[in-house]
Amino acid sequence: MAGGGFVDGGGAGTQYDGGVTFFVMFTCVVGATGGLIFGYDIGISVYHINLHAKLIIRLIRVNAGGVTSMDIFLKRFFPSVYRKASAEAAYESAYCKFNSHLLQFFTSSLYLAALVASFFASVITKKFGRKMSMFIGGLTFLIGSIMNGFAQNVIMLIIGRIFLGIGVGFCNQSVPVYLSEMAPAQLRGALNIGFQMATTIGILVANLINYGTAKMHGHLGWRLSLGLAAIPAAMVTLGGVILPDSPNSLIDRGQRQEARRILQKIRGTENVDQEFQDLVEASEASKTVDNPWKNIIERKNRPQLIMAILIPSFQQLTGINVIMFYAPVLFKTLGFGDEASLMTAVISGGVNVVATVVSILTVDKAGRRALFLEGGIQMLICQVLTAYFIGKTYGTTGEGAFSKGAANFVVFLICAYVAGFAWSWGPLGWLVPSEIFPLETRPAGQALNVMFNMTFTFIIGQCFLTMLCHMKFGLFLFFSGFVIIMTLFVYFFLPETKGVPIEEMYGVWKAHWFWGKFIPDEALGSYAKNIQLTEKA
Ligand code: BGC
Repeated sequence: MAGGGFVDGGGAGTQYDGGVTFFVMFTCVVGATGGLIFGYDIGISVYHINLHAKLIIRLIRVNAGGVTSMDIFLKRFFPSVYRKASAEAAYESAYCKFNSHLLQFFTSSLYLAALVASFFASVITKKFGRKMSMFIGGLTFLIGSIMNGFAQNVIMLIIGRIFLGIGVGFCNQSVPVYLSEMAPAQLRGALNIGFQMATTIGILVANLINYGTAKMHGHLGWRLSLGLAAIPAAMVTLGGVILPDSPNSLIDRGQRQEARRILQKIRGTENVDQEFQDLVEASEASKTVDNPWKNIIERKNRPQLIMAILIPSFQQLTGINVIMFYAPVLFKTLGFGDEASLMTAVISGGVNVVATVVSILTVDKAGRRALFLEGGIQMLICQVLTAYFIGKTYGTTGEGAFSKGAANFVVFLICAYVAGFAWSWGPLGWLVPSEIFPLETRPAGQALNVMFNMTFTFIIGQCFLTMLCHMKFGLFLFFSGFVIIMTLFVYFFLPETKGVPIEEMYGVWKAHWFWGKFIPDEALGSYAKNIQLTEKA
């Protein structure tokens, strides 16, 4: 196999004593709630984008709608946008729309805040532990949602939104790392994907709430949509208080006794010597590093560094957030009415949740590579077909109408695309970067992952509408080009990491046909050395 020569971690579970306990499941489920705020947040972005949607919809005259909560929100906080949109609405094609950079920037500002915050989170996560960052993330998100829910002016709204961004930055940096460290190697994929599971649930719930409140008259609607984010935020904050920290982090911060106790508890056995020893070794190695940001660019960390940059960037370049953010608009342009668009958006949101379960069930058996490759091919086929059908009907002018059958088929294609993403790049975009770094650079590596993820979310959020206007149906082909590149990249350059103990990951890189030359022998831990010897024998 190309990209082969990797360590098959299939038997790695037998290396350490102990198994999966109720306690570790509990900590991971509570920890994963960190994903809820991320998901709810994407849902809130959709709310703001729906303000655009409303304008677009007006503009393409599918449905003018009444004075809803969204109009009131827009009139109150962005009066010039509202006036201009109403005046210019009539003149553009289905692909193009009035562009409000202010509103678009406001929507994306959260991702910028998250990007910056994740850097600071990496320092806190290393110095004070994973749960401290989760706690800070939950609390700032809580403050942000309260400020937004009670916003009296646009300043409160913007500051609130920056707080939300800080919350997301802290949680996305710390939670995936926490989950990967708590989980036993043979179940790391499944438990880590709890984060993405919570994200998809957060998106779905937020969307349902948005749709419910959008119909309300007066100010209550938008206040509820934005303010209800306080519920998942409170859950994460509480999690940050009650959860134990990961043994890896405790050892790294000199609390060996407590680390051993927690390790015994989460593995369900007294005999954790071997694993404990490996964690201690990893921690000793990490002590020789005083600046993780300098260390991360060293040659022996090159493969991990490249992955922490490319994986999140590729995840966003699948184009998923075009669907997440703009699905209701898209469905309206396909000719669905208000209710039907709502239903279709809920269906694709539901597919997103259910398909994530498939990933949980298969990731530790089939492995990461198999899911990446299958998901990539599935997304590619769906994107090309979607471009073909939209192009055939709307051409380059944006004028035309789908037959009912064709519209339903495109909805099916979009759902199949979402499913492909939901069991591949969605969860694995968070799992893989969190499990490939050595202890000393793990927080910094995960911060890089968040930074690149947020940067590309921001860029796509900012540029989508303009791109749609210029590239038209070719936009789907634009993203499918990236899907081809990323799928080939995985095939040749991403080694399999399933089942390999997290502190022994250097062995995976050492055994890889391309990355092997970057890894010096001294970097290998005892487990990885054994694997090397077995492979040579
Ligand atoms: C991505 C988000 C995306 C979500 C969809 C996450 O893994 O990071 O950008 O909106 O999946 O479920």
